[in-house]
Amino acid sequence: MKIGNIELDSPFVVSPMAGMTDTAFRRLVKRQGGCGLVVSEMVSSEGLVRGIDRTLEYAEYTEEERPVSIQIFGGEPAKMAEAARVVEAMGANIVDVNMGCPVPKIAKHHAGCSLMREPHHAAEIIAAMTKAVKIPVTVKMRKGWDDGEVNAPELAKRVEGAGASAIAVHGRTAQQSYSGFADWDVVAGIARSVSIPVFGSGDCIEPEDIVTRMQSGVSGVFVGRGVLRNPWILAQARDLMAGRPARQITDEDRGRFLLDYMALLQAEQKGEQDGFRHLVAQSTPPRAEASKERWVVNKLRALCTWYTKGFDGGAQFRIGVNSAKSVAEVEELIAGFFFKSVGTNL
Ligand SMILES: Cc1cc2nc3c(=O)[nH]c(=O)nc-3n(C[C@H](O)[C@H](O)[C@H](O)COP(=O)(O)O)c2cc1C
Repeated sequence: MKIGNIELDSPFVVSPMAGMTDTAFRRLVKRQGGCGLVVSEMVSSEGLVRGIDRTLEYAEYTEEERPVSIQIFGGEPAKMAEAARVVEAMGANIVDVNMGCPVPKIAKHHAGCSLMREPHHAAEIIAAMTKAVKIPVTVKMRKGWDDGEVNAPELAKRVEGAGASAIAVHGRTAQQSYSGFADWDVVAGIARSVSIPVFGSGDCIEPEDIVTRMQSGVSGVFVGRGVLRNPWILAQARDLMAGRPARQITDEDRGRFLLDYMALLQAEQKGEQDGFRHLVAQSTPPRAEASKERWVVNKLRALCTWYTKGFDGGAQFRIGVNSAKSVAEVEELIAGFFFKSVGTNL
């Protein structure tokens, strides 16, 4: 399938997740197979335009991740157009607009999900961006603001008219946040009503869920929390789609994934990352060694919150990781939890 002129070799996408889908995580998911596109964490249009180093850091990606979509948020058409130019100049394949974030800090600035309540303004943003860049501009939205304002069907048509190349719809309202269930009927209705590709998002936790949702008429599926729990889910869904049994993942595979993640994060902090784009200006004061290590440990804590949910002893493991102070301590915990049966020497 294609988004504009960008060919995806799988319809399954790593959904953008702030704080989670950094370049290291995306690379590792991509390496497992079945992933047609990765989307960055949301990045501030303001920060991109002003060249703020930490914002640029969020937009980092490596060649290995292509095709790459960078998601931006903001509410001013001119600034969003300028930010899209920055994204294009960085060499990303797609620029995506966040119209789904319900967090008040974002939504109160006419950005994120509040754009859903202003479809005309949202379309102006997309029109300004599509005029400014050649790469495809896409939109990620929710079902609507609340049950009384299910605006996604209208917004989808508007942004298509303004030149958007694809849409992803998370089937919950902003008011729902993450409660209840995603409404895939609304998603399917939108897929029927526009001619650009529509991706559905919400509640694909098992690979079978992805296969089922593909039958709703969408062009593809964005998977968020399911990938955080099981980074092989997209590869497994591809196995199932091809009529093969889903690949089996062992405890050691799961442990190895965390160790690899930690190694990539550490390499990044040391500036050793192969293929890393180093967008961040040299003027940024380097993090102190202790704060680099803390950053890596915090990243592991965040992932482990999702990664070990529902596993025997997972809660105990998370308590350990949450109180760990060093990478070495986290490694030891991983060895004890995932490699206990084989006694692997790390
Ligand atoms: C921790 C977290 C962070 C998220 N951050 C973003 C974001 O930055 N941009 C966005 O469009 N959606 C974001 N989402 C929404 C997801 O991309 C996805 O649409 C939603 O979680 C529903 O899909 P799922 O059930 O597969 O997780 C986030 C979700 C989670 C759980």
